[in-house]
Amino acid sequence: MKGDHLPQKPSGSISAILKEYEPRRENLLPILHRLQGSTPAHYISEDALRETAAYLRISCAEVYGVASFYSMFSLEPRGKYVIRVCTSPSCSIHYSIITMLEDLLGISPGETTSDNLVTLEPSSCLGVCERAPAMMVDGEVYGDLTREKIREILERISHE
Ligand code: FES
Repeated sequence: MKGDHLPQKPSGSISAILKEYEPRRENLLPILHRLQGSTPAHYISEDALRETAAYLRISCAEVYGVASFYSMFSLEPRGKYVIRVCTSPSCSIHYSIITMLEDLLGISPGETTSDNLVTLEPSSCLGVCERAPAMMVDGEVYGDLTREKIREILERISHE
């Protein structure tokens, strides 16, 4: 059930976003965040990387290097919701949340459902070990997960 994405353009113009920032190298990370957040598919396109490099007067290789270094950035289109699952030992010791999600969504880690609703991403510790096992849906943390709780969360986002 892996989804094939159609490329999606940013909802706002790239240059309009760039102009919100001073053209300084130290603005690269906030710009990449903003560009990624502006697309319905939560990713940074090649055009966005190229235009950012030109705007900041740095090389495309440097912009690409930064964007590909951080796991929070994606250079591929993703689903409407990005589910990041903690695969660190404290969370995995209970039971494998990622296996449950693979089972419920019918996709493997790194893939997106065919309806482009959910992208599943493994993650290191989310910083909420006391609530293990945990996952994050678009920045919101869910802890003490059970199969039933995961099913409810998926059910809810499929109707939003
Ligand atoms: S080990 Fe899973 S949130 Fe820290």
